Amino acid sequence: MSETLLYEGKAKKIFTTDEDGVVLHRFKDDATAFNAEKRGSWEDKGKTNAAITTALFGYLEEHGIPSHFIEQVDENTIKTKKLDMLPVEVVVRNVAAGSLAKRIGYEEGTPLRSPVVELYYKSDALGDPLLNWRHFQELGVSDEDLEFCEELGLRVNEALWPFFDERGVTLVDFKIEVGKDETGTPMLADEISPDTCRFWDKETGERMDKDRFRRDLGGVEDAYAEMLRRVTEAKS
Ligand code: TMP
Repeated sequence: MSETLLYEGKAKKIFTTDEDGVVLHRFKDDATAFNAEKRGSWEDKGKTNAAITTALFGYLEEHGIPSHFIEQVDENTIKTKKLDMLPVEVVVRNVAAGSLAKRIGYEEGTPLRSPVVELYYKSDALGDPLLNWRHFQELGVSDEDLEFCEELGLRVNEALWPFFDERGVTLVDFKIEVGKDETGTPMLADEISPDTCRFWDKETGERMDKDRFRRDLGGVEDAYAEMLRRVTEAKS
């Protein structure tokens, strides 16, 4: 299979394939934070995130939420549909943490009355700002697409909350992305991994996600490995 590098992101490389409308996402061991001001990398990060993303997209598909995911092709790589991405990062939150805790003055760990959905503008140059619908309209994103993003975020949350709860994990918040296939059908895209979610152990509150890297908490490799174990463990 011939592969050509189409795009290199901070944590993944995207390659074209011989198949029409199909691309490969190769997960890197690199990590960045704060719009790439902070950089690092650790062994097995790529393959751990590829395996977690594979398991979660499979679970979501089984629960009526299709995505761009086709199959995992090797330890670090998944095959997906090639989509036209919306310039939107959809964040859904169940517990106040990170930028929301700062924005609304809540202590981290405060449960939210109901899930809060936020739409960020995917722009490295601007540092991915939080925008309102009118800003997105000005940027040419349709109301229909924004509605889809918010509804998809809430549906993914409803599916994943009990999945993680059963595994002893609080799904504090997460980020997803949306793209459209060649017929214009929008769907879930990108990845779902400890890079893009906050996972807190239900009993101890321990952080098992990228905040260990962002905040120099140590133990990041073990935390990702533990999340892989919990995500892939069989449940009756
Ligand atoms: P925040 O509290 O920093 O806004 O992050 C909210 C969620 O979004 C958290 O689960 C981490 C995820 N996230 C990303 O996936 N990419 C990003 O660039 C940022 C800032 C957050």
